Amino acid sequence: MGHHASDPNKIVNITIDGVPVSCPETTLILDAAKMAGIDIPVLCYHPDLKVRATCRLCVVELKGQKKLKTACSNEVWDGAEFITNSPAVRQARKDVLELILAEHPQDCLQCVRNTNCELQQLARDFGVSKPLFANQPKQIPIEDSNGVIVRDMAKCVKCGRCVEMCQEVQTVGAINTAHRSVEYEVTTAFDRPLQDSTCIYCGQCIAVCPVGALYEKDDTEKVWQAIGDSDKHVIVQVAPAVRVALGEEFGLEPGSITTGKLVAALRRLGFDKVFDTDFAADVTIMEEGNELLERMSHGGTLPLITSCSPGWINFVETFYPDLLDNVSTCKSPQQMFGALAKSYYPEKAGIDAAKIVSVSIMPCTAKKYESARPEINSSGYRDVDVVLTTRELARMIKQAGFDFNKLSNAEFDAPLGISTGAAVIFGTSGGVMEAALRTVYEVVTGKELANVDFEGVRGLTGVKEAEVDLDGKKVKVVIANGLKNARVILDKIRAGECDYQFVEIMCCPGGCIGGGGQPWGTTQATKEARMAGLYQADRELSIRQSHKNPAVKALYDEFLGKPLSHKSHELLHTHYHPKHK
Ligand code: SF4
Ligand code: SF4
Ligand code: SF4
Ligand code: FES
Repeated sequence: MGHHASDPNKIVNITIDGVPVSCPETTLILDAAKMAGIDIPVLCYHPDLKVRATCRLCVVELKGQKKLKTACSNEVWDGAEFITNSPAVRQARKDVLELILAEHPQDCLQCVRNTNCELQQLARDFGVSKPLFANQPKQIPIEDSNGVIVRDMAKCVKCGRCVEMCQEVQTVGAINTAHRSVEYEVTTAFDRPLQDSTCIYCGQCIAVCPVGALYEKDDTEKVWQAIGDSDKHVIVQVAPAVRVALGEEFGLEPGSITTGKLVAALRRLGFDKVFDTDFAADVTIMEEGNELLERMSHGGTLPLITSCSPGWINFVETFYPDLLDNVSTCKSPQQMFGALAKSYYPEKAGIDAAKIVSVSIMPCTAKKYESARPEINSSGYRDVDVVLTTRELARMIKQAGFDFNKLSNAEFDAPLGISTGAAVIFGTSGGVMEAALRTVYEVVTGKELANVDFEGVRGLTGVKEAEVDLDGKKVKVVIANGLKNARVILDKIRAGECDYQFVEIMCCPGGCIGGGGQPWGTTQATKEARMAGLYQADRELSIRQSHKNPAVKALYDEFLGKPLSHKSHELLHTHYHPKHK
C-alpha cells in the first residue's frame, strides 16, 4: 500500500522504467506498468481474485531502495520511481521460478496444459533451461476418483488461487491451505477425497489454476468409441454458452459467435445428429414459467428458485437443504434434453432408444456430476451418457485435425435443434429470468410484448433486482450469480425477509459464460465479451420467445400434452435431497 489511505480520485505522477504515468493513487504498480506498456510477470495474482501475494514473482525495485516490492499487491504513490527490469529484479524472479521448477514434474508433453500453461510460459520467457537444483518432483498420487475433477497436486505451484475461489468467491470451502512455507499445500479437510468434502463440482478452481494441477476428467475417449461403433446412434447437444467461447481455443476473440462452425465441426467429428440444448431451454421456460404461475395462483412455496445450474443444486442440497421446496422441480435443460432424446426423439425418428448415445457439450463441470445422478434416468435409460466441457470438445477437434476456422456454417438438425433467442441467453446471468419473463408476461396478460428486452436483469453484477408489471400484477424478481451472492438472497429467504416471487441463481460467477469448463484464461473481460455475444445471437434470431418455438409447440401437441402434464412430470421434473457432509 501507499504511505497513507489512498484516494481513488487523487491522480498521482510516477515513473516506471523512466516512462511517466499519471494514474489514480489506488492503482496497483502492476496496472500502472501496463499503462506504460510494461508487462510484469505474475503467478499467484489473478485479476478477479483477492491478491494473496505469495509467489513474489512480480517484484519490482523502488529507486534508491534495496528491498523489492510486489507489484500485484502494492499501490503507487506520488513521485514514486519504479524499475521493473534491474539485475536485482531479474535475479529475484529467476530465483522464484527456479525454486518452483526444481520440484515441478517435467512432463509438459503429457500435460493437459501443454502450450496453455502460465508456468511453462514464464519458464520460456525467462529462458530457464537448467534448474539450479536437481529436479526432484514431489511424489503425490493423482486424485481422480470423483469422476469430475482431477487433482494432480504434484504440479501445484501453491499460488492459492483455487483456495481463494473456493472459499471467498464460491463460499464452499471444500479446499484450503495447510501448513506454511515449504510444507504449504492445498488440501481438503482431513485430506479426504474431494467426493467426501463439500465440493459442489463447479470447476471454478480449475478455471483459475495457472498450471495442470486441476482439470476435468477427460471423457473424450468414450465419445470417440461411441462414434466409432456403427451400431450406435450418437447424438449431441450443445449448451448456449459454448458457442461464444469455443472460438477462443482456435484464436478467435472471446464472444465470437461460432454456432455455425460448431455445428459443422460436430458433424465432421461424426455425430449422427447435431442438436441444441437451447431447444430444451425453451422447454424449461414452458415448464418453469407454468410452475411459477401455478405456485403464485395456488399458494405454493415462494419464491420459486431456478434449477438450471447443477453446481447450484449441489450447493443448496449441501448448505441450504431447508430451502429445497423453493427450488423448481424442473430438471436442467441438459437433463430435459437427455430425457426427450431417449423418449420423444426415438419415437418420432423410428430409432431404438437403446441404441442412442446421448452426448452433451457443456461449459460446466458440475454437469458431469449431474448426468451421473441416479435419479436422472427417467426415460428408462441414462438420459445423458457423456458430458464434455468446451475444452474437451476443442481437444477432439484438434485431434481430428481439421481447421475449425475454415469450416462453413451449418445448421442444427430438427426437431431438437430448433430454438429461440430466449434460450440462447440462458448462457449468461439474468438470461433464464429474462427468458421466463418474455413468456410469463404473455401467458398472464394475453398481450404481445412490445419489447422483449428486459435490460434491468442483464449484466455481471452479483445481485440484480427488478420489478415487472404484468398488467397491474407486480412480480418481484432477483438474480444472483456466484454462490457468495446466492447466500445473500438465501439468507434473506431463510429469515423470511424477502418478497420476491422468482429467483434466478447461477453457480458460476457471470453464469455459464464463466463456467468451470470454459477455455482457460477466462477473466471478467472475457465474460463480458461472451455475454455480448449471447445477446447479439439473441437479437439475430427471428423468434425470441420460448412459447413461440414451433418445435416446442409440436412437442407438446404430439407428445407431452401440456406443461406440467403427467408425462412432463415424469420426464422433465425431478426431486432433490439434502446432502449430509
Ligand atoms: S503444469 Fe505447465 S509446466 Fe507443469 S508439466 Fe504441465 S504444462 Fe508443463
Ligand atoms: S469444484 Fe468448486 S467447490 Fe469443488 S473444490 Fe473447486 S471451487 Fe471448490
Ligand atoms: S492447485 Fe492450481 S490454483 Fe490451486 S494452489 Fe495449486 S497451482 Fe494454484
Ligand atoms: S504475482 Fe505478485 S506476489 Fe505472486
